[in-house]
Amino acid sequence: MLMRMPGSSRTSRILLFFSLLFAVTAPTPLQARQAVADKGAQSPSASATSAPAPELAKYVGAETCKTCHEEIYNAWEKTPHWKTTLNKAGGPAKQGCEGCHGPGADHVAGGGDKPKIYVFEGKSRQETSARCLSCHGEAHAQSHFAESAHASSEVGCIDCHSPHHAREKQHLLVQEQPQLCYGCHTAAKADFAKPFHHRVNEGLVQCNDCHNPHGTATVRQLRALPSGDAVCYKCHVDKQGPFVYEHVPVKTEGCSSCHTPHGSTNPRLLKVSLVNMLCLQCHTFSTQLTAGGPVGPTHNQSAKYQACTMCHTQIHGSNFSDVFFK
Ligand code: HEC
Ligand code: HEC
Ligand code: HEC
Ligand code: HEC
Ligand code: HEC
Ligand code: HEC
Ligand code: HEC
Ligand code: HEC
Ligand code: HEC
Ligand code: HEC
Repeated sequence: MLMRMPGSSRTSRILLFFSLLFAVTAPTPLQARQAVADKGAQSPSASATSAPAPELAKYVGAETCKTCHEEIYNAWEKTPHWKTTLNKAGGPAKQGCEGCHGPGADHVAGGGDKPKIYVFEGKSRQETSARCLSCHGEAHAQSHFAESAHASSEVGCIDCHSPHHAREKQHLLVQEQPQLCYGCHTAAKADFAKPFHHRVNEGLVQCNDCHNPHGTATVRQLRALPSGDAVCYKCHVDKQGPFVYEHVPVKTEGCSSCHTPHGSTNPRLLKVSLVNMLCLQCHTFSTQLTAGGPVGPTHNQSAKYQACTMCHTQIHGSNFSDVFFK
């Protein structure tokens, strides 16, 4: 209608009156706070007008996406991400499909205009991981991701997880473990195939028991116990001590100074095949650089004395013997 209606100025005056009246009968502070809490991230000014703020109008909600992407929606509804629909505090930007794909109104208006919706395909890992971290970044488990060897090597969340095409129900993983890790870590795969190994392939121990694929504050993405000690103590508590007589390298250089943690051709996952050669790496006869040499007639290195741990049985530390006897 282009023609002005007679009395339109009066109408607007009435409107003004009502809006003033509305302002006077505005909600009590308590009600207002409640309203803000209900609307979550919505800007407070949005509650003063009936029309939603322009940025909120760009969100249509998951039910609308369902009308064209029903199959994806139905599968998605069975994953933990459906819980984002409960995220009232985060507002529509953190809910449903649009929590990851961004606002969908333009995409819908175009009848499914692909350039108007965020797609993960073809984007850098840094960019796609940042999207996931917009919600997961505060969780302790993922908080070191940005500094991890994975992140700095262009490995991102969607190399291991898939919100729509996960093959593992638990944790939305793209592949079961340890195959997921072996796909990129062939050296580890070879190590765990050695005759002596932690039984990862057998399902007794997992890569994740020792590593956090999301990164940690320590080297090699290794987990540490809350006490800060090596992850090995989680299962091998008897090695932790404290002992009256500590074997120094266990504490200073760690378990890996004598053991290969993944797998070995040597029994007890030892780094070298002959125990005496292992000990003599530090307990040299010639120098006193690190540790004392084995002295006295008991150490003449005839075959009888080569199996050092035959006598020094408590090699990880002892409460009774300063030379680690029983
Ligand atoms: C947690 C983040 C996340 C949520 C929530 C999410 N998506 Fe996705 N979407 C992705 C990722 C990542 C991909 C890339 C493929 C993959 O890794 O699964 C993708 C791919 C797609 C694709 C491309 C086709 C395909 O099957 O890969 C469509 C279409 C799609 N999503 C629609 C939706 C719809 C509809 C919803 C809501 C029901 C939704 N997405 C919810 C992250 C998400
Ligand atoms: C009116 C129907 C319609 C609605 C509603 C709709 N889409 Fe789509 N969407 C499509 C069509 C059609 C395509 C395929 C476009 C193409 O391949 O060029 C598509 C493509 C996509 C893609 C890219 C798929 C790919 O190949 O990578 C994503 C992601 C997506 N939609 C997400 C959403 C989300 C999220 C919503 C809700 C906010 C939504 N769609 C709502 C019709 C719709
Ligand atoms: C190298 C593979 C890998 C990468 C990369 C990865 N994850 Fe994971 N993620 C896993 C594995 C494996 C588990 C199962 C952990 C377990 O069993 O303890 C997991 C578990 C999770 C869990 C559920 C349990 C928890 O710790 O809260 C969330 C959430 C998660 N990942 C989010 C992410 C996000 C977000 C990113 C990207 C910033 C990411 N992941 C990157 C492998 C990966
Ligand atoms: C809008 C916020 C949001 C975004 C963005 C988001 N997530 Fe989530 N994610 C959640 C919520 C909420 C849960 C459910 C947590 C729960 O169950 O307590 C979840 C759960 C998960 C889980 C755990 C599944 C399980 O079984 O433990 C994984 C894995 C995961 N998300 C990966 C991702 C990945 C990968 C991305 C990026 C493609 C992503 N998320 C993006 C909010 C989000
Ligand atoms: C029993 C604990 C344990 C388990 C289980 C374990 N690792 Fe390790 N991993 C370690 C330790 C400890 C190191 C550091 C070794 C060092 O620095 O000398 C390491 C190092 C690594 C490295 C760095 C390169 C290297 O070989 O030094 C990669 C990669 C790795 N592990 C991947 C894996 C994968 C993949 C799995 C599962 C298939 C796995 N790990 C299982 C303890 C473990
Ligand atoms: C998509 C390929 C890919 C997958 C899948 C993958 N990784 Fe990695 N990982 C890498 C790359 C690349 C690096 C960095 C280069 C390197 O050290 O090998 C790395 C580094 C690591 C490191 C640190 C090594 C160091 O020297 O600091 C560990 C530990 C590790 N990955 C464990 C795992 C575990 C456990 C899994 C399975 C849950 C896994 N990775 C899955 C590619 C992958
Ligand atoms: C998740 C539990 C777990 C963690 C963590 C763990 N181990 Fe083990 N470890 C085992 C189990 C179970 C065995 C028993 C061997 C078997 O039968 O597979 C074992 C056996 C061993 C053995 C003896 C193998 C033999 O032939 O008797 C050595 C050495 C060893 N672990 C060293 C380590 C070191 C070093 C670490 C830390 C890098 C570590 N373990 C972390 C569970 C663990
Ligand atoms: C100074 C070298 C050295 C260090 C450091 C060391 N070990 Fe050992 N460990 C050995 C030797 C040698 C044996 C074999 C003993 C035998 O043959 O009786 C062994 C055996 C083992 C065994 C199998 C037999 C048993 O006693 O249970 C486990 C498990 C083990 N070590 C775990 C660890 C863990 C965990 C650490 C780190 C806290 C560690 N070791 C540090 C030398 C070492
Ligand atoms: C990584 C180096 C290293 C390895 C390997 C090692 N030790 Fe030690 N060991 C030490 C150090 C350092 C001390 C402390 C020496 C000191 O206090 O003067 C020590 C102390 C000892 C002591 C106590 C007596 C003393 O000199 O204080 C005995 C016994 C001993 N080691 C036996 C062994 C045996 C047996 C092996 C082989 C199973 C072995 N060590 C492997 C570094 C090592
Ligand atoms: C037949 C038993 C036996 C064997 C085998 C044996 N030792 Fe000993 N070791 C002893 C005795 C007994 C002492 C204590 C000597 C003393 O108190 O003067 C000792 C002491 C030591 C000490 C401490 C020396 C010091 O300064 O007090 C070291 C280090 C040591 N042995 C290393 C080794 C190494 C390395 C091997 C293997 C090459 C080994 N031992 C094999 C019985 C043995």
